[in-house]
Amino acid sequence: MLRQILTIATISLLLIGNNYQTSSQSQTEFEIWQQKHHKMYFGEEKIYRETVFQANKKMIENHNNDEQRSYDMGENQFMALTQDEFISLYLNQLDAPKLEQIEQREQIFNIDEPLKQIDWSSFSTIKEQGICGAGWAFSVSNSIEAWYGIRGGRNITASAQQLVDCDSYSKGCYGGYNYNAMHYAQQIGLMSSYYYPYVGQQQGCRYNRGEFRINNYQFVGNQQQTLQHYLQNYPVSVGVDASNWQFYKNGTFYDCGQTVNHYALAVGFDFGYNWIVQNSWGYGWGENGSIKLSPGNTCGILSQAYQIV
Ligand SMILES: *[C@@H]1O[C@H](CO)[C@@H](O)[C@H](O)[C@H]1NC(C)=O
Ligand SMILES: *[C@@H]1O[C@H](CO)[C@@H](O)[C@H](O)[C@H]1NC(C)=O
Ligand SMILES: *[C@@H]1O[C@H](CO)[C@@H](O)[C@H](O)[C@H]1NC(C)=O
Repeated sequence: MLRQILTIATISLLLIGNNYQTSSQSQTEFEIWQQKHHKMYFGEEKIYRETVFQANKKMIENHNNDEQRSYDMGENQFMALTQDEFISLYLNQLDAPKLEQIEQREQIFNIDEPLKQIDWSSFSTIKEQGICGAGWAFSVSNSIEAWYGIRGGRNITASAQQLVDCDSYSKGCYGGYNYNAMHYAQQIGLMSSYYYPYVGQQQGCRYNRGEFRINNYQFVGNQQQTLQHYLQNYPVSVGVDASNWQFYKNGTFYDCGQTVNHYALAVGFDFGYNWIVQNSWGYGWGENGSIKLSPGNTCGILSQAYQIV
């Protein structure tokens, strides 16, 4: 229901488009924020959303005034949502995944090889999942995008919408699992997102075929060292607990549980062994769309890490 109300609010603003103008003098900061993020609320809803906006603003200010903080928060498109609403609109609504019993294949690395700091973020672009819990689909389509760029020398975009519509082991905008999406890409393949563009809601499966297929995929193992080694080759799709990511802006994040409810793409780690993770909430969120997580199993990053091979 909430999803529908917010979708309609967004669509009506898009329809009104350029005709929506008010004099900037009379605009409140909430109205300026609404305009910037293409949101439109009316009546009671507007009054309520403004209260939530102000409470979030205060919370962000308090957080950023703490001199001990390791990360900053910032205002973004989620300002008018409570944390519960944020979780129900943007994260997986499915039960936390059970660890899939897939055999770890022969290790493709030598454990004694020295590790290099690495960052593959330029091989995939930041996407915007909209009001749809499709992080799992973008995590996998972006990992295919990066794989083709790094191993295949081709710049492609693989369709996340196809996974939302056609992967019958997942639940579209209500969530899914990275290994099921990889299974789909192995069995069926993905279309280019040029031919199967993202619309941000589940629709009927339009094409159950695609030119971008993967040979296989494997569980990376749940140790810091295995993820670091696999990242030497190319990015890894990871499950994370993103319940507290709503206002992350920059710095090193650690403030989370380990119950996987979202998927993103680990693209490397820095000199301090912090994970660099690309998200699908647009460039305006986090560090140009990415988050840095402290080392180890922060936000459960080691528990559902799968790499295409
Ligand atoms: C976040 O970025 C701002 C602006 O670049 C910087 O001043 C601040 O120190 C950063 N915060 C952290 C925790 O790294
Ligand atoms: C892929 O894109 C990058 C960055 O835009 C560009 O530098 C590179 O030449 C492209 N590669 C191919 C094979 O088109
Ligand atoms: C974001 O990207 C811009 C332009 O590429 C760059 O100047 C800036 O430093 C980046 N910011 C962060 C936090 O990485």
